[in-house]
Amino acid sequence: MRIAISTGGGDAPGLNAVIRAVVLSAHYRGWKSYGIQRGYEGLLSFNGVVPLGPAEVRGITHLGGTILGTTNRGNPFRYVMRDGEGNESEVDRSGDLVAAFQASGFDALVSIGGDGSLLISHQLWCKGLPVVCVPKTIDNDVSGTQRTFGFDSAVSTATEALDKVHSTAESHDRVMVVELMGRYAGWIALYSGLSGSADVILLPEIPFDIEKVCDKIRAREAAGRRFSVVVVAEGARPSDGAIELVERRGVGTVDRLGGIASKVARAIELGTGKETRTLVLGHLQRGGSPTTYDRLLALRFGGAAVRAIADGAFGVMVGLNGPDITRVPLADVVGRAKNVPLGGDIIATARELGISLGD
Ligand code: F6P
Repeated sequence: MRIAISTGGGDAPGLNAVIRAVVLSAHYRGWKSYGIQRGYEGLLSFNGVVPLGPAEVRGITHLGGTILGTTNRGNPFRYVMRDGEGNESEVDRSGDLVAAFQASGFDALVSIGGDGSLLISHQLWCKGLPVVCVPKTIDNDVSGTQRTFGFDSAVSTATEALDKVHSTAESHDRVMVVELMGRYAGWIALYSGLSGSADVILLPEIPFDIEKVCDKIRAREAAGRRFSVVVVAEGARPSDGAIELVERRGVGTVDRLGGIASKVARAIELGTGKETRTLVLGHLQRGGSPTTYDRLLALRFGGAAVRAIADGAFGVMVGLNGPDITRVPLADVVGRAKNVPLGGDIIATARELGISLGD
């Protein structure tokens, strides 16, 4: 067997652990593994296929990023081409990709990615490419799995940041508004906001009323708590407004979210008269070593992906469901974002602890 491995979309802590698990599990079965560099670019636009054996994946479990590189502009179905004048247009190059895959003599593809990569993998599977997917993203917004790897590491980084923000906010009697990633899902904001003792948590799942946010800060002030920490997910929006975008991106990729923290901070300053500062944690959430939880999950996912190949189970994603790693058909996963359930115990706990969710 010859297995190809590709990492696509934004990076996440644990990617290298998956690669190592796939390569070693394949190696001990007597199979060969190959890495496609920079998403599918290594098959589509340059000669980027590298053999991966035990030596190449030695000592990488704890390393952030991906040894293969990645891109979020490499969709073969919507491949971005530039003409001589710099104008961009989309071309379907999926046929080229399947042809390059077959010409390389690959028997299976392990695609490690988030919602965008899963959609591409499903389309490739429909074109006959034997693919097994591993769910990756700090956002934890992939359905068919309770967890994506990378999420725990991002939450851990965000929680540590909130702990640090607390002491400076308290010293200066300030309101600190911390903007966290997560796209259209509030998992990172909710988990780290709760663990990091935020006073207000604003999620994409619950459009917020800025007056309610100000009420909470005023109530704390009246109780002698002269500082507040507000966590805002990048995809959160006021009940009478839209999601903030840094950039509406062009062809072949997705919009870039961001900017809600400064809007919320300005409104809090106006509403409460309190000095309010912002912190946008940004890509720190994607960098660095995976936590133990993410390493283990990533290694389990990698092993399970190779077991699926051994069983001839293609067109599936491996996922954590209960105590087990299960196989979920890609058709049941794509186009179904997993959002924070509003009736869940974590939302209830946040409310019971007196945290304002802005509603
Ligand atoms: O999907 C992971 C993620 O980090 C999101 O939380 C964030 O919105 C996005 O990627 C940022 O992507 P980029 O690095 O392309 O700006």
